[in-house]
Amino acid sequence: MTRREFVRLGAGAVAAVNATLLAPAALGAESGPRIRFAIVGTGIRGCDLLRSAQKVPAGVCVGAADLYETRHQAAKEAWGGEIATTRDYRTLLDRKDVDAVLVATSDHLHRRVVLDAVAAGKDVYCEKPMSHNVADGLAMVEAVQTGKRIFQAGSQRVSSILYAKAREIYQSGRLGDVHSIDAKWNRNSPGGAWIYPVPADASPQTVDWASFLRDAPERPFDPVRFFRWRLFRDYGSGLGGDLFVHLLSGIQFITGINSPAIRAYSSGGLYHYKDGREFPDQLETVYDYPEMQVHLHCNQNNNDGDEGIAFYGSKGTLLVTGKTVTFTPQDIAPRFESYGWGGMTAAQRQQGADQFRAAHPAPPPALDEAESYTVPQGYDDTADHLANFFRAVHSREHVMEDEVFGNHAAIGCHLANYSYFRRAVATWDAATKTIKG
Ligand SMILES: NC(=O)c1ccc[n+]([C@@H]2O[C@H](COP(=O)([O-])OP(=O)(O)OC[C@H]3O[C@@H](n4cnc5c(N)ncnc54)[C@H](O)[C@@H]3O)[C@@H](O)[C@H]2O)c1
Repeated sequence: MTRREFVRLGAGAVAAVNATLLAPAALGAESGPRIRFAIVGTGIRGCDLLRSAQKVPAGVCVGAADLYETRHQAAKEAWGGEIATTRDYRTLLDRKDVDAVLVATSDHLHRRVVLDAVAAGKDVYCEKPMSHNVADGLAMVEAVQTGKRIFQAGSQRVSSILYAKAREIYQSGRLGDVHSIDAKWNRNSPGGAWIYPVPADASPQTVDWASFLRDAPERPFDPVRFFRWRLFRDYGSGLGGDLFVHLLSGIQFITGINSPAIRAYSSGGLYHYKDGREFPDQLETVYDYPEMQVHLHCNQNNNDGDEGIAFYGSKGTLLVTGKTVTFTPQDIAPRFESYGWGGMTAAQRQQGADQFRAAHPAPPPALDEAESYTVPQGYDDTADHLANFFRAVHSREHVMEDEVFGNHAAIGCHLANYSYFRRAVATWDAATKTIKG
């Protein structure tokens, strides 16, 4: 499954690259009883989770809750079979035969549902961004740890075979010293800007509006707010919560960083989608971590370049895009650099060249080999992420993307939004676990 390609390096050099197709592992083939799970929130993501869960033999869905009546049928179709459905998720938490709960509600209700699920003794998979604000995340971490529950945040790339390969290359040290990471995720369509359909049957009869507004300010029924909640700060978290958290989770996983940034500065604006939304459609944030600068930028008005994370090291660059990881070595073999001698006499130049040759008698070492890895067509990292969660529920061992990891990635979103809305540098105060600035 390996083929050779060639990549161009800086200074005109060309290197061979081995391109390999990655092989997914079996999903939950191990023995043991199937984990019985219920799902809360069966909208776009909840239905995706159910479709992916069908591929994971270690789990079986036994119930689904959603505030919009018609989504009960959508949940059954996504799971591909009959399941108990309800508007009130607490009836699912009361069931003794439910081991675990998947939470895929709008961001502002993650805390409420997770705390109730933990109090009922359930293990929890909660969609990203784990929290809607810093206080929510801290409360969730404490509840999960006190209740000794298994928790996994839902940024599925952390379980992807592609990201595992990127982590392996990064952790091998082949990049040299890495102090700069640049990540982006760009879109250019109404759907990419969260203009989702508002169904014709949406009404106060089919939607439990009061439950949606729990932990949010009171308002008259508004189907646009219910179905396009990402546009509004009371329920969503903007590009920071939607896309930055995925990028930051990937960065945390690959580098091993598991702490919030020290500070962040955001710039951006609402340039195109002036439809009453409260978040920018272009956002850039520069984060300072110890010894590392991370630059994230997301755009909803031009999708050139799409999605990718680049890790810039002194010996090479690692690029992770949607389906491919590429390592490209930097050609840093010592060579006589004539540029700096341009302002010297011919004799001085000659002397410099002679000294260089004397100091470097051996030919330069061969360039490290470039590598590229691709996931097979149709690879589903969400299925792998669910499999990891079910495995942990069974084994009681922590997953990589546990409550602490998920909380740190979500704090990255909150730092970005804090800075954007206040037009100030946001600083993480580790002593008080608050954002200042
Ligand atoms: N991991 C990913 O790639 C990914 C992708 C998309 C969305 N998400 C996350 O998933 C979550 C859901 O996003 P979505 O796009 O599916 O939104 P959505 O609006 O399509 O669905 C959310 C559903 O949650 C239901 N809900 C809200 N509160 C509820 C409650 N108290 N009880 C029962 N149901 C409740 C709503 O009725 C709605 O149907 C968000 O946090 C989002 O950030 C993650």
